[in-house]
Formats: sequence, C-alpha cells, structure tokens
Amino acid sequence: MFPFLKKKKNSNALLTNDTQVPEHIAIIMDGNGRWAKQRKMPRIKGHYEGMQTVKAITRHASDIGVKYLTLYAFSTENWSRPKDEVNYLMKLPGDFLSTFLPELIEKNVKVQTIGFIDQLPEHTRLAVLEAIEQTKHNTGLTLVFALNYGGRKEIVSAVQMIAAQYKENAIDLSEINEENFSQYLFTKDIPDPELLIRTSGEERLSNFLIWQSSYSEFVFVDTLWPDFDAHALDECIEIYHNRHRRFGGL
Ligand code: FPP
Repeated sequence: MFPFLKKKKNSNALLTNDTQVPEHIAIIMDGNGRWAKQRKMPRIKGHYEGMQTVKAITRHASDIGVKYLTLYAFSTENWSRPKDEVNYLMKLPGDFLSTFLPELIEKNVKVQTIGFIDQLPEHTRLAVLEAIEQTKHNTGLTLVFALNYGGRKEIVSAVQMIAAQYKENAIDLSEINEENFSQYLFTKDIPDPELLIRTSGEERLSNFLIWQSSYSEFVFVDTLWPDFDAHALDECIEIYHNRHRRFGGL
C-alpha cells in the first residue's frame, strides 16, 4: 500500500490524508434498469440492488464525514413509467427504512426529503415522515431523498409562493435576491452541493437541483448504480478534490 493513502474506517475505500471531502454530495442514481437487463432480470431487481447501494453509500458517506447526501430517488417525470415499476419504486422507501432505520439512528443520521411529498401514496409518505420524525434530533449526516422531485416545478412553486405573498402585500419585490429566493426552495436549510455525481454514463442533469448545482462540480461515471460502491465514491471525491473551484473568479 502507498504510505500516503489512508484506509478509512469501516470500508475498503481509500482517500488521501489531505482529501477535501465535500460537505454536500448529490447523486443521480442511474442505471438500475440496464444492470438488470444485462442479467436478464426484471427491472425491479435492479432497483432492489440499487437500494442496497443506497445503504452502502450512506454508511460510507457518514464514515468519511459528509454532512449532506442528496439522492435522486424518484423524479416528477418518473410517474410515466409502467405502473408496476412505479408501484415498486414507491414501496422502496418503506422497505429501506424498515430494515435500515435502526442503523441510521445508531449512526446519528438525519433523514429529510425534498420534493412534492404530499402527492406520494400514503404508505410511502408515512414511511418517510416516520423516519424524519425519529431522526429529527440527529446531528450527523443528513440523508436527503429527492422523492417526486423536479427542479423546474420547484422553481415554479417558489415563484407562486412569492406571487401569493406579493398579492397580500407581504413582500417587496425589490427585496427579492438569490439568497432569499433560495428560502422558497425545498433545499432552504441545505447548502448547495459542491459535488454532483451521475452514474451509468449519462451526462445530463435531468431536472435535478437545477438551481442549487450552479457551481457544483459534476462527475459522470460509467458504473451502473447497483455496482457503485464506497471505492467508487472515493474516486469521485478525489476527482472533485483535484479540480480547481473558482466561482467565476480567478
Ligand atoms: C434510475 O435508473 C433510477 C431510478 C429512477 C430509481 C432510483 C432508485 C433507487 C436507486 C432505489 C432508491 C432507494 C430508496 C431507499 C428510495 P433507471 O431505472 O432509469 O435505469 P436505466 O436508465 O438503466 O433504465
């Protein structure tokens, strides 16, 4: 082993001693369907394996000191998938939390969601609300599930809230700026992601955190989400670390 590489607690993954771990990592978890197809399995098997990856990546993110991990679990566009697949995806948060919530609590992880939660089936909504309630005082990693989330709808909804306040004379439009506009978004209590990862070789944002990722570093990897692991996350963090971040300055 190279002396400058440090073995991280509870994983086989390697990060250099001085690696700057981002405070907030956002991930578009793509490739579950192709993973299953390659194995002649039904697509839902790919989503099941994807859920196992969510557990492994959450554990690792917590171990290496990530403060926020936001995962794109279901987009506002995903409703157009076949009904059986949508039903299965709506079952996953409950399955995930019924098996993993005790470990999340033990690891001091706080569960949150972004997205139009009210429109989820009741069993899905109740499962996530229960996890949010049980972890609300935790102070470690914040695990954010983007569920029924779409960036454009999020921005439109923010504009509608501002318009409603304007109509009530409760707001002065000249006072609206980037900071207080952000307060109308689902992510109002969450810093913008420094690193945004998409798996499976696709290089698109697909309506994910379109406001919040203005200055994020994007890392696209070919690995399909069920095959993504702690080591792959560390490699993405190393790429992030090696990039020069300038925020438009010099
Ligand atoms: C995209 O892959 C993936 C999704 C739309 C669902 C992501 C969900 C999970 C990874 C599991 C979530 C787990 C919890 C706990 C909520 P795709 O189906 O579009 O793959 P493809 O592009 O290869 O067809």
